Amino acid sequence: MDVNIENATIKHLDKLFDIEAQCFDQEAFTKRQISYLLTDYNSIALIAKVNADIAGFIIAQVDLEDNTEYGHIITLNIPPNYRRQGIATKLLNEMEARLKQRGIMECRLEVREDNHSAIKLYHNLGYQTMGKLEKYYGKKHGLYLKKSF
Ligand SMILES: CC(C)(COP(=O)(O)OP(=O)(O)OC[C@H]1O[C@@H](n2cnc3c(N)ncnc32)[C@H](O)[C@@H]1OP(=O)(O)O)[C@@H](O)C(=O)NCCC(=O)NCCS
Repeated sequence: MDVNIENATIKHLDKLFDIEAQCFDQEAFTKRQISYLLTDYNSIALIAKVNADIAGFIIAQVDLEDNTEYGHIITLNIPPNYRRQGIATKLLNEMEARLKQRGIMECRLEVREDNHSAIKLYHNLGYQTMGKLEKYYGKKHGLYLKKSF
């Protein structure tokens, strides 16, 4: 299966919202939030394409702390029929490459503490758990992960 990583644009909004809604229920971003993320100058948004189909997407923002920029993964979603084929890994690798091209040396993210598949994916790729985020997702706790390049 050939997977190509491309930039996402506002023209992909409907499809990306559809995938987001398949991947999350209460925690899903709204269409309006995704629209904002796709157009904000601080965002990097990538899609994975398999032929003409969108087989997942990732959006990160570039944030600032102590005058230093870092990448912040906002959302990563692979539709159920495309999972366990390395697509999330490809999207994360490409996102990290894009961050490095900008001279950014760190990437952070939050994940629900019971999202074992995502936590395994991130740990495999070298992200380290830095701490717990109490009730970050309503009643559910989150974990805060970070990777330095
Ligand atoms: C988590 C998610 C992004 C993984 O996407 P994916 O394309 O299936 O991930 P990959 O194929 O790149 O997986 C890489 C590795 O992560 C781990 N992993 C991924 N999914 C897993 C699962 N369901 N169970 C156990 N390990 C898993 C495995 O180690 C896997 O390697 P392997 O397949 O060789 O064993 C996908 O399941 C998803 O979109 N889930 C819903 C949304 C979500 O939770 N997003 C992340 C929010 S922080």
